[in-house]
Amino acid sequence: MRSLRATRWFRDEPVAPALVDELLDVARWTGSARNRQPWRGVVVTDLARRARLAELGAYAGHLAGAPLVVLLAVDVEGGGEDAEFDAGRFAQTFMLAAHARGLGTCPASFFPAENARRATALADLAAPWRVRTAISLGYPAPSPRPGATSAVPRGRKPLDALRSTAPPVPRADAEGD
Ligand SMILES: Cc1cc2nc3c(=O)[nH]c(=O)nc-3n(C[C@H](O)[C@H](O)[C@H](O)COP(=O)(O)O)c2cc1C
Repeated sequence: MRSLRATRWFRDEPVAPALVDELLDVARWTGSARNRQPWRGVVVTDLARRARLAELGAYAGHLAGAPLVVLLAVDVEGGGEDAEFDAGRFAQTFMLAAHARGLGTCPASFFPAENARRATALADLAAPWRVRTAISLGYPAPSPRPGATSAVPRGRKPLDALRSTAPPVPRADAEGD
């Protein structure tokens, strides 16, 4: 689980439909608030649609180069306050399942809102569904620019940074301990 990284370069090799189904079937069992399952995963393989999707975000270019894209649709009306959290869990389950099968993935965000609206239309969906995120999927290829500097910082914050820095609250009944 720790070795899951974003993959933005892919081999020119399709992903078998049965394998895609297997990944979606794993993701389908993700838990959600009140078991609402406020998500859909729309599979896109045709290049014309992937190319259009790749233009809908400042960093969505990898969608054109992946053999397959899953558009993550969220029910923003019936899904309640937890819908985005639920959809994030669904996406993470999908990406971990893909990683376990030797496949690479990377999310892409569609922004501003008009681009999310266009992505929703390209998924053939309408309200209450909204597509703000896609996941590219394919067999990883080496980066054509290994070691190139990235606008996004790499690595992770240290473990200590996760811990609360707030001072402990003294317990009222702890006086005299
Ligand atoms: C909600 C979300 C949106 C993201 N959007 C993009 C994106 O638009 N384009 C992109 O190339 N990567 C995107 N990413 C991938 C992040 O850049 C990546 O997870 C982060 O840099 C860590 O990468 P690493 O696991 O390879 O270290 C997104 C990730 C998340 C969780």
